[in-house]
Amino acid sequence: MTNTSSQLSEVILKIENISFTWPCGTKALDNCNLSIPGPGLWMLVGSNGSGKSTLFRIISGLLKADHGKLMCNVSPALVFQNPDHQILLPSCGSDLLLNMPTHLSNQERKTRVKSVLEEVDLSGLSSRPIHTLSGGQKQRLALAGALASDSKILLLDEPTALLDPESQDGVLKTVKKLCHRKKDPLAALWITHRLEELEHADGATRMKNGQIGAWYSGHQLRKSLEPLAVLPL
Ligand SMILES: Nc1ncnc2c1ncn2[C@@H]1O[C@H](COP(=O)(O)OP(=O)(O)OP(=O)(O)O)[C@@H](O)[C@H]1O
Ligand SMILES: [Mg+2]
Repeated sequence: MTNTSSQLSEVILKIENISFTWPCGTKALDNCNLSIPGPGLWMLVGSNGSGKSTLFRIISGLLKADHGKLMCNVSPALVFQNPDHQILLPSCGSDLLLNMPTHLSNQERKTRVKSVLEEVDLSGLSSRPIHTLSGGQKQRLALAGALASDSKILLLDEPTALLDPESQDGVLKTVKKLCHRKKDPLAALWITHRLEELEHADGATRMKNGQIGAWYSGHQLRKSLEPLAVLPL
């Protein structure tokens, strides 16, 4: 597999013919292709076991593909379904410091903690113990961690699956805002099983049997999948 940035002029991420088989023999990705055309909120739907999380592990470098090309000119950050799996330190500020590039001065670190907390609507919570945060606040702290790390592409693996509707809305609005801000808008690739979330996407695609289809508008994909919602996608 090759991993280069030189072949990317416009797209942020491009995957060409990637295949991956787990050591046990399960083929999770089968000549998979995907292109993220630019900043924005891009959504990926697919039934259980269709290969979505495996794809994220390959994009983030946790797994190496057996075949194919991964071209990414920015460093990706993963946000998991359960924020407890990625928040490691006891307070908001200390956890964010852990995510920051090591070359920053102490003053730059302090400034960045403040600014990333503002970006995710957690202003002033730097010294808050993690266990006092709500589920939605924890998930937005996980987003702040991704921002603190300088990532320009967020890989969100069902980030709202464990949240109540209000917190779900808060996380979705926060990511949307980050993807559409004037300065340095982010690209987010968001896995969801909740078809109503597709309405917020700038583009959406379906993953099936280790392969990814074309981009549609979120609304279009929702309408085509809703009749199947009672069946496996
Ligand atoms: N660590 C692993 N070892 C072996 N097989 C795995 C492993 N993780 C996933 N698989 C298999 O790879 C295939 C794709 O799994 P993956 O987790 O990528 O699917 P998914 O689309 O994220 O599903 P879900 O919607 O349930 O999260 C499945 O057949 C799964 O059983
Ligand atoms: Mg998964």
